[in-house]
Amino acid sequence: KIVPVIMAGGKGTRLWPLSRAAAPKQFIQFVGDTTLFQATLSRVSDMTLYEAPIVITNEDFRFLVAEQARELGITLSGILLEPVARNTAPAVAAAAVFVAERFGDDAVMQVLASDHEITADPVYFAAIQTARDTARSGKLVTFGITPTEPATGYGYIEIGDALETGAHAVKRFVEKPALADAQTMLASGGFAWNSGIFMFPVKQLLAEVKNLSSEVEQAARAAVAKAAGDLDFIRLDAEAFSASPDISIDYAVMEKTSNAAVVPASFAWSDLGSWDAVWKLGYRDDAGNVTSGNATLINTKNSLVMSRHGHLAVQGLEGVAVIASEDAVYVGRLDDSQNVGKLVKHLASAK
Ligand code: GDD
Ligand code: MG
Repeated sequence: KIVPVIMAGGKGTRLWPLSRAAAPKQFIQFVGDTTLFQATLSRVSDMTLYEAPIVITNEDFRFLVAEQARELGITLSGILLEPVARNTAPAVAAAAVFVAERFGDDAVMQVLASDHEITADPVYFAAIQTARDTARSGKLVTFGITPTEPATGYGYIEIGDALETGAHAVKRFVEKPALADAQTMLASGGFAWNSGIFMFPVKQLLAEVKNLSSEVEQAARAAVAKAAGDLDFIRLDAEAFSASPDISIDYAVMEKTSNAAVVPASFAWSDLGSWDAVWKLGYRDDAGNVTSGNATLINTKNSLVMSRHGHLAVQGLEGVAVIASEDAVYVGRLDDSQNVGKLVKHLASAK
């Protein structure tokens, strides 16, 4: 069976001010009647295909994770807690060490982001099974989404030769390219977006992390070896884990490995990572506006207007996001959505 590992430690700063430090995007309800984290749990709840999931998250979110899993009646294999945020590479590596210990060296783990909106239909599960078979043959597998625009918030995969399992070799992986490079890749064809969901054979993954980013591997191994566990939470050792570089799995491993494969994915997928993505996924009216909550729009086009507090009136604007939470308001151009994280950093340092 596949061991699911859900990454739920991101800060989601690009969705400020609805996504907040105390409750980032994955733990709040954007669409549907569960949170994105709960929807992710539901996608790995088929016990014929999956072991009980492992969640890796920050110390700060431990009660959100435990409570939201409990609400669904889902039992977890464990909640791994990071003492500090070091991005996804050490998180995934620590999870892999833990999985190898608990389920054996030959285990295959599926790494899931918890900020995706996915339709888990038969097409999706067919792709999952192809990925599992490909991972069993030793490949680090990702899923390739057909790109629709020169987005700069994703990884780009150049698709290579077909493998026996139905997957393809990865020729090249480019994480979050500059706009000009994204445009070139999109125009040239033969590229897919990295879905941010991975299927990893733990042994080969750890070997690659060691090869390509040995400090990450060392930190992860030591953090698990010295972890302190009680019934619900497994606390990674703070000193060991903090020693890891701050780097994502995409930069640390996927860009550099020559052992990656990609499964073309034709299921419905959206990364709800930024306001432009929320606008694209939302229901757009005749003027191209997506609204939620108490909002009045006049002479306004192609905009996202969301109010969780008070009446929001917008006049004479185009292509903007206006987001009012309980205690803060964000106004910015939709095509500036990737930069909201920088703004939030600025706010934090200005305090
Ligand atoms: N445990 C843990 N610790 N989880 C983390 C951390 C961390 O330090 N940082 C981020 N995460 C979680 C987030 O909560 C999210 O579920 C997932 O890891 C991915 O992080 P994002 O910050 O959302 O990454 P991204 O969207 O910028 O980029 C990734 O996903 C894209 C597709 O959605 C990359 O894999 C891209 O290549 C990919 O295209
Ligand atoms: Mg994301």
